[in-house]
Amino acid sequence: MSDMSELFDRRIVLGVTGGIAAYKAAELVRLLLRGGAQVRVVMTESAQAFIAPLTFQALSGQPVHTHLLDPAAEAGMGHIELAKWAELVLIAPASANFLARLATGQADDLLTTVCLATSAPLMVAPAMNQAMWRNPATQHNCQILGQRGVVIVGPGEGEQACGDTGPGRMLEALEIAQVVAGYFRRGMLAGKVVVITAGPTREPLDPVRYISNHSSGKMGYALAAAARDEGARTILITGPTRLAAPPGIQVMQVETAKEMLAQALEHGAGADLFIAAAAVADYAPEKVATHKIKKEANGELHLHLVKNPDVVAEVARLERRPFVVGFAAETEKVLEHARAKLQRKNLDVIIANDVSDTTIGFNSDNNAVWLLSGEDAVEYPTQDKQQLARRLISDIAARLERHNNKAS
Ligand code: CTP
Repeated sequence: MSDMSELFDRRIVLGVTGGIAAYKAAELVRLLLRGGAQVRVVMTESAQAFIAPLTFQALSGQPVHTHLLDPAAEAGMGHIELAKWAELVLIAPASANFLARLATGQADDLLTTVCLATSAPLMVAPAMNQAMWRNPATQHNCQILGQRGVVIVGPGEGEQACGDTGPGRMLEALEIAQVVAGYFRRGMLAGKVVVITAGPTREPLDPVRYISNHSSGKMGYALAAAARDEGARTILITGPTRLAAPPGIQVMQVETAKEMLAQALEHGAGADLFIAAAAVADYAPEKVATHKIKKEANGELHLHLVKNPDVVAEVARLERRPFVVGFAAETEKVLEHARAKLQRKNLDVIIANDVSDTTIGFNSDNNAVWLLSGEDAVEYPTQDKQQLARRLISDIAARLERHNNKAS
């Protein structure tokens, strides 16, 4: 088990809402306590249909809070005291109904009231049937919560209690406990907002075809997980990939370069750090055909492509500009071309890799890069993308710190 010493003495209110995953919350209490946290459990009425308050009372050694207007409980630790006591309010499992109530700011039971009254960060681990999770209403609620800074952990994918398969399963208790521990860790990027682009973009030709590339998104996702582990509030803007969203990260799904640009400008303005790991398609069809393009009699098809916006360069042009890191995929004169790109796009740092070597980079689990700034160049030899991401994030975080010190 990974180190969870950051949990020591942390005051966590764990909200349990109605759902079959409520039983996993019992294991979560055990793990949080084992890490040294103090845990107070608040249950909604429907949660009590799945698991008895006595279970949580026995595990936590503390009374379980179930009612808003219970004179005996209010005489002990009332709802406002509970809200003030918490350093984190974690809701696991969070049902679709609960997310909806949280998104609309209701205070019609103890848990929603505590959530409204607290100034502590909120973290939710959704758990529901896949169709309920995919429903635009739930997605919209999560978007609202994400924009308010609520950390959404999961859900995972897989077989569900109802027999369906898909996204909606609550993450395992250990995964949630690790995210909580990471949240409390005062890492090198604690308090910072980091925005990362990842994956390819898809540029539609007609309703069934598109232009894209082989980017797997692995490097960008690994960087996002590493930034999160260093304590950053991390936003990942991703084109279509086969990768699961890393827990504890706000994920914005996009398809085209234009959609990526819109998200990057929205989240990049005011962010501390922007890392462009996406392989943005350089060109897009001038027009998207409304109907499927039919074969031409002469056996030729001429496409007219126009240049896409340069996402990273646009972010670097923002008035409230974050520290900007780009990537350079090169096949020759790697350092020379990367340095030219650093200047042309007005970046603070560029990470260069040689994409002519098929054992690294695109689609591979390994990568070898050079990190270049205006002043220096550091070589990172071939290694696993996760490890490389952690090293790059530490290096970039240290440069960001120096940059901010110089500016102030
Ligand atoms: N990039 C971007 N938007 C684009 C093209 C590139 O944000 N439309 C970003 C990439 O995410 C990467 C950096 O710019 O961080 C460099 O990408 P790369 O493909 O190497 O460079 P290009 O600008 O496309 O230059 P060229 O194709 O001429 O090498």
